[in-house]
Amino acid sequence: MIIEAQDISVKIGGRIVFEGESVSCKPGIMTALIGASGSGKTTLLHCLGLLLPVSKGSILINKNDVTKYGSAARRRFWRDHVAFVLQDYGIMDGESVAFNITMQTSVFGRRVIGNKERLTQSLEKTGLKGREKELAGHLSGGEKQRLALARAIYKDADILFVDEPTASLDATNRRKVIELLTDFAVRGRTVIVSTHDAEMIESCGILHQVGSKTNSITKSY
Ligand SMILES: Nc1ncnc2c1ncn2[C@@H]1O[C@H](COP(=O)(O)OP(=O)(O)OP(=O)(O)O)[C@@H](O)[C@H]1O
Ligand SMILES: [Mg+2]
Repeated sequence: MIIEAQDISVKIGGRIVFEGESVSCKPGIMTALIGASGSGKTTLLHCLGLLLPVSKGSILINKNDVTKYGSAARRRFWRDHVAFVLQDYGIMDGESVAFNITMQTSVFGRRVIGNKERLTQSLEKTGLKGREKELAGHLSGGEKQRLALARAIYKDADILFVDEPTASLDATNRRKVIELLTDFAVRGRTVIVSTHDAEMIESCGILHQVGSKTNSITKSY
């Protein structure tokens, strides 16, 4: 799916966060939203993911204007097409690792259900194998970040929105996460990443500098 921002501006509480941002995020290629701290990377990511309304301009999905989507249409978009790995990771601390990935339990008990094979795969790919019964609240910051990615892998959504995916990881896990995200893109998914990480940026094909008023750069290989 192609996700586009066309000349969008965001004003919060009378303050302009950014103006005139345009970026086109395509499947099969990772888009990096880059820029200094406070430039508006997270805000732009949230606008592209329909989590935050724009003050001006349009958001397009596959060339359709979705700027005026109501809450039901947005929920449908999130449910059917999107996985988010946001800055607070969206982890439910009081639930198990496995539940945080599948988000499904049996009707009566606390038993986690869902697709076993996909659950195992997502645990393996994020180095969380064997931890599925633990309380998510007991995980470290970096482990929670990987858990959020495991949820995204499990869902295997068309579009992945990721905020600073490598921020609290060591070199080995950073590389792993970059590989995981690249793998999503290679399989034809649209991957949009807000990042400061030079190695992460290196792996992205579209670079968009937030707040610079310049066009995005599309790298050729
Ligand atoms: N809900 C909000 N209310 C008020 N101001 C906000 C809100 N969300 C963002 N801002 C402001 O918008 C600006 C951009 O914030 P944003 O989080 O998008 O930056 P960022 O580029 O992601 O920074 P970082 O690299 O530190 O994560 C900041 O000055 C911030 O204070
Ligand atoms: Mg941010």
